[in-house]
Amino acid sequence: MKVLLLGSGGREHALAWKISASPSCTELYIAPGNPGTAQCGQNVSLSPLDFEAVATFCVSKQIDLVLIGPEEPLVKGITDFLRWDPALANLIICGPDAAGACLEGSKAFAKAFMSEFDIPTARYGEFNRDQETEAIQFLDSFTPPYVIKADGLAAGKGVLICAQKEEAAAAISGMFAGEFGEAGHTIVLEEFLDGIEFSVFALTDGKHACLLPIAKDYKRIGDGDTGPNTGGMGAVSPVPFVDESLLEKVRTRIVTPTVQGLVARGIVYQGFLFIGLILVKGEPYVIEYNCRMGDPETEVVMPRLKTDLLELMVAMHEQRLDKMQIEMDPRTAMTVMLVSGGYPGSYKKGMTIEGSTIETPLDTMVFHAGTRMDERRLVTNGGRVLACTAYGQNLEHARRSAYELVKKISFDQMNYRNDIGSDL
Ligand code: AMP
Ligand code: GLY
Repeated sequence: MKVLLLGSGGREHALAWKISASPSCTELYIAPGNPGTAQCGQNVSLSPLDFEAVATFCVSKQIDLVLIGPEEPLVKGITDFLRWDPALANLIICGPDAAGACLEGSKAFAKAFMSEFDIPTARYGEFNRDQETEAIQFLDSFTPPYVIKADGLAAGKGVLICAQKEEAAAAISGMFAGEFGEAGHTIVLEEFLDGIEFSVFALTDGKHACLLPIAKDYKRIGDGDTGPNTGGMGAVSPVPFVDESLLEKVRTRIVTPTVQGLVARGIVYQGFLFIGLILVKGEPYVIEYNCRMGDPETEVVMPRLKTDLLELMVAMHEQRLDKMQIEMDPRTAMTVMLVSGGYPGSYKKGMTIEGSTIETPLDTMVFHAGTRMDERRLVTNGGRVLACTAYGQNLEHARRSAYELVKKISFDQMNYRNDIGSDL
């Protein structure tokens, strides 16, 4: 099969690594990719947001399958665009259409969906710019802290948690005044849920869903979950507190009703569905849906997935995921993100990266995120730079070996968290 993977982060390197290991993969292109994906296939300089160019490329290279890594092209309708192209009638597309991607693209849509299909989530209210007074009054129906969410995509920054009502009211006014652009013209106010978060990943074919390995992400920049939110500073899979009985609740109360709800709405959702969950007093609640894989969760989920990913995506296309068995590596996988100093605020690019081309020790992998080749030098090119993944017989082993790998790599102002996995 000839495969095109769209995206350029650590998630895409992990997906490219997994796809290139499939016996049925004959050609793999990554657009635009990074120096890590270039080790797995051929990078193509194409923007995932240039739908016309993506379609032309698929026709000219006779691509069999396209996998869309990031949310933005999905929310903007790349799947619809490719599906409508008569020259691409046989193309397998992994990634939902714009209607399905609304689960991530509109928080108000996701909340209304959950409420319609009785999927457990925080109590909420939805408000538009004409309802500022009502929105601020609605805060009184909650106890602090207050959770304020911009409806649309805001690169992971659209959720504010405010301790005081005055601060919450100012946050609401700021969103309505355009602080998050159009994404904040509608907002969701939500009850604060106090618990521990984990991430569930499913591949769905529009009728059935297969669960992939469960993971936990570490979102804050600082050790001990302090400081601002980031895209994710590390991840672990499996998650020790997610036992079979919790997983059964997740399947019956959340995954199955979500798939059934999509069917009821007439949405044929084919692709990855990432459900961010929070465990409150033993019960799982949905914090958010994403229409794609997580980053850096993919850097531990793909290493633990033993089943051939291309076979799974073909089964997804043929709507027979109910017949597929997901085989997982019983070991623990852990990843630590190396980030540029200053991230998630402003940071410098172009720092020379030392040590990442070393022969990595057995059972470890370095996935590239924000990197670039400058002549023959590998340099930093983003906030999140490299994900250092290691397997271990248990969490402690995986931790030790991931941090040993981290110690071999360096660049100016490199930063990372020292406590990934240590709360588990
Ligand atoms: P989201 O973009 O919806 O995933 O929100 C980003 C982060 O904000 C989540 O990972 C949570 O840590 C936090 N968060 C969102 N909603 C809530 C909530 N209702 N209660 C507590 N924390 C929340
Ligand atoms: N790591 C969280 C995300 O990908 O949204």
